[in-house]
Parts: sequence; structure tokens; C-alpha cells
Amino acid sequence: MDKGLPTHSTGTPPRFGRHSQPIWRLVALALVVVAGVQWTYLSQSQPDRPAVRVPLHAAEIFERCQQLSVKPGPPQNFNQRTQSDRFVPGTKPMLLKNATIWTGQVEGLEIVKGDILLHNGLIKELGVIEHFDTNEDIEVVDVHGAWITPGVVDLHSHLAVDAAPALRGANDGNSRKGPILPWLRALDALNTHDDAYQLSISGGVTTSLVLPGSANAIGGQGVLIKLRRTEERSPTSLLLENPYSTNITDYDPKKAFRFRQMKHACGENPDRVYSGTRMDTTWAFRQGYNEAREIKQAQDSYCAAVLAGRWEGLSSEFPENYQWEALVDVLRGRVKVHTHCYETVDLDDLVRISNEFQFSIAAFHHAHETYLVPDTLKSAYGHPPAVALFATHARYKREAYRGSEFAPKILADNGLQVVMKSDHPVLNSRYLPYEAQQAHYYGLDWNLALLALTGTPAQVLGQDHRIGYDADIVVWDSHPLALGATPKQVWIDGIPQIAKPHVSKKPPSVQQKPETPNFDKEAQETLEHDGLPPLIPKKSTTHSVVFTNVSDVIIRQSGEIQEVVSAQSNDNIVVVDGGHIVCSGAASACSQSISGDGVEYINLHGGAIAPGLITFGSPLGLEEIQGEPSTSDGYAFDPLYQVVPKVVGGDGAVIRAADGLQFATREAFHAYRHGVTTAIVAPKSAGFLSGISTVFGTGAKHQLERGSIIVETAALHVGIHYGVGPSVSTQIAALRSLLLGHGAGNLAHWFKKVAEGETPLVIDVESADAIATLIHLKGEVEEAVGHPIQFVFAGASEAHLLASEISKSGAGVILTPFHTFPGAWEQRRILAGPPLTEKSAVSTLLEHNVTIALGREIASDSRYTRFDAAWAALEDGGSISRKEAIALVSTNLEKLFGISPKDNADLVATTGGGLFDYSSKVVAIISPRRGLVDII
Ligand SMILES: *[C@@H]1O[C@H](CO)[C@@H](O)[C@H](O)[C@H]1NC(C)=O
Ligand SMILES: *[C@@H]1O[C@H](CO)[C@@H](O)[C@H](O)[C@H]1NC(C)=O
Ligand SMILES: *[C@@H]1O[C@H](CO)[C@@H](O)[C@H](O)[C@H]1NC(C)=O
Ligand SMILES: *[C@@H]1O[C@H](CO)[C@@H](O)[C@H](O)[C@H]1NC(C)=O
Repeated sequence: MDKGLPTHSTGTPPRFGRHSQPIWRLVALALVVVAGVQWTYLSQSQPDRPAVRVPLHAAEIFERCQQLSVKPGPPQNFNQRTQSDRFVPGTKPMLLKNATIWTGQVEGLEIVKGDILLHNGLIKELGVIEHFDTNEDIEVVDVHGAWITPGVVDLHSHLAVDAAPALRGANDGNSRKGPILPWLRALDALNTHDDAYQLSISGGVTTSLVLPGSANAIGGQGVLIKLRRTEERSPTSLLLENPYSTNITDYDPKKAFRFRQMKHACGENPDRVYSGTRMDTTWAFRQGYNEAREIKQAQDSYCAAVLAGRWEGLSSEFPENYQWEALVDVLRGRVKVHTHCYETVDLDDLVRISNEFQFSIAAFHHAHETYLVPDTLKSAYGHPPAVALFATHARYKREAYRGSEFAPKILADNGLQVVMKSDHPVLNSRYLPYEAQQAHYYGLDWNLALLALTGTPAQVLGQDHRIGYDADIVVWDSHPLALGATPKQVWIDGIPQIAKPHVSKKPPSVQQKPETPNFDKEAQETLEHDGLPPLIPKKSTTHSVVFTNVSDVIIRQSGEIQEVVSAQSNDNIVVVDGGHIVCSGAASACSQSISGDGVEYINLHGGAIAPGLITFGSPLGLEEIQGEPSTSDGYAFDPLYQVVPKVVGGDGAVIRAADGLQFATREAFHAYRHGVTTAIVAPKSAGFLSGISTVFGTGAKHQLERGSIIVETAALHVGIHYGVGPSVSTQIAALRSLLLGHGAGNLAHWFKKVAEGETPLVIDVESADAIATLIHLKGEVEEAVGHPIQFVFAGASEAHLLASEISKSGAGVILTPFHTFPGAWEQRRILAGPPLTEKSAVSTLLEHNVTIALGREIASDSRYTRFDAAWAALEDGGSISRKEAIALVSTNLEKLFGISPKDNADLVATTGGGLFDYSSKVVAIISPRRGLVDII
């Protein structure tokens, strides 16, 4: 490694030396002079020793040594500032009246009913503000009781370094130049044109820690930015407390030192990149830290002498290494260390390193196993690291396999700090509040869930002196922990961020903090089973099951959703015999239907019975761990990209998902336990040809069990995508040729069925241009064959642009996922939805009478199906009825896949509320199809 880069004696001094304040300089010089005099005197009294001269830059060196003991944090009296350093002159003061303000104070328990005044980029006053003394033109807005919180802080984002849409020149998140790179700075890669800035703001995010990726053990320094677009338009102007500032008026490191942020990563990611092992990565850390420690020790002993005036024998150069200075600052407690670290072994390694080199870890990120080893965290140097988590996104690789939705609650129970983070664009940070809502749903206290988005990350970043005080606030359209909570407006530095906010009408119920079910038993089981509690559903042992205190019963009839019993009273019961509902209604009317003995009673506490939901779009049932090929069915051969072996059928081969199904995967059981009883899955595709999808029951234990496979061969699947393999026009040409009957073998057979209008063709496609071409092609083929054929566009990020044309063509759409994101160029023209646009993609397509459904791309997200439907309806402001919302994730999928409606489809029983409510929990699946009731 390079050593001894710029020195002081000859070159420009580094940032500390350059901007001395006159008074300070005088004091420093005086001290040097005194020291020098004393020393001169000593040397005179010992004539046999050579004379030692005070180095030329003694004052500077002395100053630098002094600075080593400056503590990081805000300058003194910072809390008396009357204007933010980010204040933009001309910004009007703003008084928001009549708000319900969650202040984040008193452990997040304080709620103030009153007003909030934004002035000079700061929250000037909070409470009942009768009058404000100013000559300034002040804007007053009555928010009619709306919830206000501080802006959301994303502790882990790759916004701007992994920019959207992803283009080759805009992926600057990971350097591949070595395992230890503390000298890199994310600031140097901050793309100011990322489409995600505005999207994230529209979700309430005001501040993000932008981190380098995890391809290195030490990937470099992160930067903390506010997402507001600045007049300067530069990366530097986004920084919150720029630690790299060389402007002494703005930042004087002699008075107070600004924290920097550093990314570390352990385990699989750095190992993968450097073909090393955990042992290699740990050694790389130790080697790096040892380098830093040696420099720090050299500085400390050098400075001990300088500060004592003992210049004798001292080099004229301050011991320093420009590459290692940031890591030396870690050892001095001046850098917050953010460590991507999942597993017990890795957490333990890092804790050991922190103790060996005596630095503290600000937070473990991802940290899927932290809840299993709280004591390990508590034994870290200095203080226990905070834990930055996803709510339910887990099992995507081996390290994440034991990830648990109960981790936030369990960690908080152990007194550890919990932060919810996005890892944007892994999760779209726009929906970071949803992570906190889920954590709350699974047991994290509401105040900690809100702090996990705001106060806790602010503290972890060493920025709690200003985050929460700066005028960065969100006015919400509901309680922020209610499903679908969306900002009505967002202020950053006192400046409103959404030009023309569109606000959905919401039911009054969402203004209250949602009640949540009790998951204590599940959390306990998770701990007992080291993160892998058994998920296998248990069949009821009695023939009859009676559900009491039922508020609603909704079922399917002839492929439509019907409400049979509705909320009037809660003395309704539902009697189930052998998996069939034999009576539902008032207890008095149904009690005769209860057969004598062997009856199990389940009290739903005002809960409901609703149709089992269907998921589509992820490889659910074809894999256990996404990142582990040995747990997955793998990818189907694709004749457009590869030579398909003859033994499979050559170019005529068609792969069926049914042949690769795995049952009893954790993800399938999680889906089942969240009311998603059916999955439609297509073979994993390399690009163009996927194969034939299958419809299966997520609760089944193996393929040969009764009712495990619902429809063996459902639809034919292809994909049309930009930037992969042959051109889009080549892909379309292949499709045309196949549809017009020029295929071979089995493929010809299946395309014939499509051309005959018997089998739907599901096309994974994002771009409106490709969709338009496909609509044209559909017409061409229909003209040739003389009857309609069925097309379904899945993915379909840009489908809203062609809502009317899609409707006329008779094609269907599966928005996968329903909240689109401009991740790729072919997806860039999304319809963002409220508050950025009035309509969402869902409401636009529905308005045009397109048959649409909602999908999910990631298997662990399939549990969200019920909340997706509820959220889509909430976003639409009430024009989507509950029945229609359920149809989006059940009967509409059946229609699109041409699955003939079956009245014996599974039903889901929830306690404490309906399937769409955060208050509810699935307790049983009623399956007429399989003649049983599963108790969850
Ligand atoms: C605050 O807003 C609520 C909801 O609109 C309204 O009922 C109430 O009267 C308002 N209070 C004041 C003091 O304006
Ligand atoms: C230094 O910072 C001050 C205060 O922020 C500012 O007014 C001044 O213009 C800056 N100077 C330069 C050279 O950027
Ligand atoms: C039904 O459950 C609700 C919600 O828990 C409760 O308020 C109500 O008293 C219950 N009714 C009966 C008849 O048990
Ligand atoms: C959608 O269907 C409704 C009811 O059939 C009809 O009134 C409306 O005009 C249709 N809208 C469009 C855009 O076709």
C-alpha cells in the first residue's frame, strides 16, 4: 500500500492547516515560542549536545496536534442557531396550523396537537402559536388535524450512486480495486440526475446516507445528503454538514469536528468479489486497521512530544498517510462505521475486530441474525451497534436465510436500537415508511417504529443535533403507520418539495394508529428454532370447525367475489364441515348446523372470512433461496440465446414449471400464512422463452398430496426486453414467426393453442413501445387466424401510457409490482401516483376497463399480496371497492390465465379484522378443495 503521500513541509498543508483563525494562530505561536525558548535554554546549558532547531512549520504542526483531541459533533451553542446553514434566502416562513405533531421526543411518545412554524430553514416553534412577531411575509396553512412528523431518514441508500434508470455509466456504487478502500468517497460518484430523488421525497424521505456498495470489506466513505434539488445543482450542495469542506467560515475543524460515515461489509459480498474466504476478509480488515493503528500511535507519540514542547529528535513532518487518514479517524471516534453484516459468524468477527482495535460500530446493516445474538452486539467496543433492517425482505441468500419479521421487536426487547432502511434501490426508498409499518405490525412498539425512520438513524449518524430541528417535515394523509400512508407535502429546509401535490381521499379510520395483532408466540418460536420455526400448517383434527364472532364473510361464486355476510352484528358464526361452509350467519340460525361432537371453535374477535389470494410474478415454489442455485429449479433453455440440446427437444422444447416445483418452501408457507393460498409460477427465464406456468397450492407439502397442483399447464410465457441478447425487433420477429405457425415441435403445439385462442400468452414486457408493437402484432395474428387471441402483459411499468389501446385490444395487464419504479430505461415512464400524480397506474388501467391484476417479483414479497390490494384501493381514493380490490389478487388472475372459476377455492379466516387490515392475522385456511381446515 502507498505510504507517505503529501507532506506538510513542502506541499500544501492538508485541510486542518490552511485556514487558521488569527487569534488561534497567535496563541499557538506563543506556545511554540515558549517551548522553543525553554528548549534553547536547555541546549545552552548542555553544550555537548547538538543544537535542535524548532521545525519551520512548528506552529502548523502544533495546531494539528491540538486538533487531534477536538471531539466530533456540533459546535458549542449550535442549538442556539437562528438560521440553518442550508437556508435558502427568500424562503418564506411557514405556519402549519392545527396539526397532530409526532415530535420524536420522550422516546417517541410525545404527540402535540397544535401548530408548527418553519423559519430560516429551522423548526422555530411547535405548540399552539397564537402570534409570531415578524415583518416577513408568512404563509399560513391549516392542515386540519393531519399528522406531521420529521422527515424520514434513510440510513442505507445507494441513491445517486446506483442511479435510476440503471445505465452503464451510472453505476458507481462499488469499486473493484481491492478489499480495503477507506479513501474512496461516495461524494465523488454522486449522480444528480437520479430519477429516484423526487420519488423518494414523495414518500417522505428527506435525508439519506448514501453508501458505497458491499463489494469490499471497506468500500469507502458514505455521504449524508438532503434530497432537495438545490439551486447550485451540484453534489456538494446536497451535503448535510459537509465533512470535506475547506471553507473555514462554513466549517472550522479546530472548533468542532464533523462526523464522517464509513462503509464496511463482511461475509459473502466481499468474499465473492475477491474470491476469498471469511478468514481472508477478516485478515484484510485487521491488516487495514493495524496500518491505521500504527499511524495513530505514531501521531499520538509525536504529538505528545510536540504539545510538551519536546522537539528534540522529532521529524519535521507530522506522521501521516493520506490514504489511511480516514481509518485513523475511525480509531479516533470521528467516523461512524456502517457495517453490512448478516450472520452470527460475521457479526462476531466484526465485534472482535472492534475490540482489538478499539473503535465502535455505529450500526450493523441488513444484520439478519442480530436478533439471535444480542449479547454479541452488546460486547462490541464502546457501545452496542444499532441494527438497520428490512422488515420482511429475507432469505434472498444464505446469509439472510434466518432473517425474521420479528427481529425489530426482539432487538428492541433487548434494548438495542432499531432502524428501518431501504438499501435503495434494493427496496424503493419511497416506501421506507412501509418497512416501519410492517415492523410495527410484527410487534415493534409504535413509538420505536416511528423512531426507526427518524430519530434513531439521526442519532446513529451523529446528526441528532439538527435532524428533527431543521425544517424537514412531512404532512401525512393518514397516521404514518397506517397502511398506504402518503405525504400530502414534504418540506426540506423549509421549502415545499412537491409542486402540485395530489391527495387521495382516505377513510377516517386510517387517521388512528393501527391496532396490530399479537405475534409474541411466533417471535418466541422463532428464537427457539434458531430463526427457522416450523411453518407447516396443521390440519384441524376435528371434522367440524365453527368460527365465532365473525364480522364479514366474502366468498367466490362463479368467478366473482360476493359478500355473503356483512358487518351488521358480531354474533355471526360460520360452520365448516370437512372444509365446506355449511352455514354462515346469525348464531341463532346456524347453531343447528353444528354437528354433535368433535367440534373446534375459533373465535375471530370480529374478524372475517375472505377468498384465498393468488400470487404471480416471482419464482415462488421454484426456489428456496434466490441466490443459491442449488436450491433452485434454475433457468429454462432459451432458443433465442442458446443451442437447446436435442434431447430436450431442440428449438421446439417447452419447459413446464410443474416439473420443477418444490413444495414446503419457507416462502410458500409464509405466503400461505398470510392468506395467499395459490401461486401461479412460470419457469425462470433467461430472457425470451420461459415456458408453461402452473397453478399450485402454497400450503401443500408435496406434489402428490391431494390438491397440491390446481392447474398443471396454465399459460405460455415469453419476455420482450431491451438490452439483453438479440435485439427487441429480433425477439418480436421470433414471436411473430411462432404465432404464425412457423415453430417446431412442442413449441409449435403451444403456439398453436395460443393462436387458437385457447391458451393465453403472457408476455413479460415493460416498455410502452414494445407493448404497442405487441398490440399491433396481436391484431396481425388475429387477422390471419380470424379470431381473438389472449395476450397478458406482465411487468408492464409503462402500460398506463397505452391504457386505452390495451383496453381496445382486449389484452390484460399484471402490474408486477403494482408500485412501479424506473429501475431500467424500459421502465422509466412510470406513473408515480399520489402525491406526484393524481392517478396511479392501477386506477388509470381500471378506468379504461382493462382487466388488471397485481403481481410481485420477489418470492418473499408474496406475503404482501393482501396489503398490495388494500393499498392500491386506498391510493385510488375510494373508487375501488373491497370486492374489486380482492379481485385484483384473485379472480382477475384466474380470468387472465383462463382458469375456469371454481367455487371450491380456498378461504382465509382472520382474527381482529379483515384480510386488508393491519389489525388482523390469518388464523385458518378453509379448503373445500382439499376438504380440510388448516390452523395457522
Ligand atoms: C382542526 O382540524 C379539525 C379537522 O379538520 C377540525 O375539526 C378542528 O375544528 C380544527 N381545529 C382548529 C383549532 O382549527
Ligand atoms: C464559505 O462559506 C461561507 C458561509 O457558508 C460563504 O458565505 C462563503 O461564500 C464561502 N466561501 C467560499 C469561497 O465558498
Ligand atoms: C367480537 O369481537 C370484538 C372485537 O374483539 C369484541 O369487541 C366483541 O365484544 C366480540 N363480540 C362477541 C359477541 O363476542
Ligand atoms: C368502462 O366500462 C364502463 C361500464 O361498462 C363504461 O361506462 C365506461 O365507458 C368504460 N370506459 C371506457 C374508457 O371504455
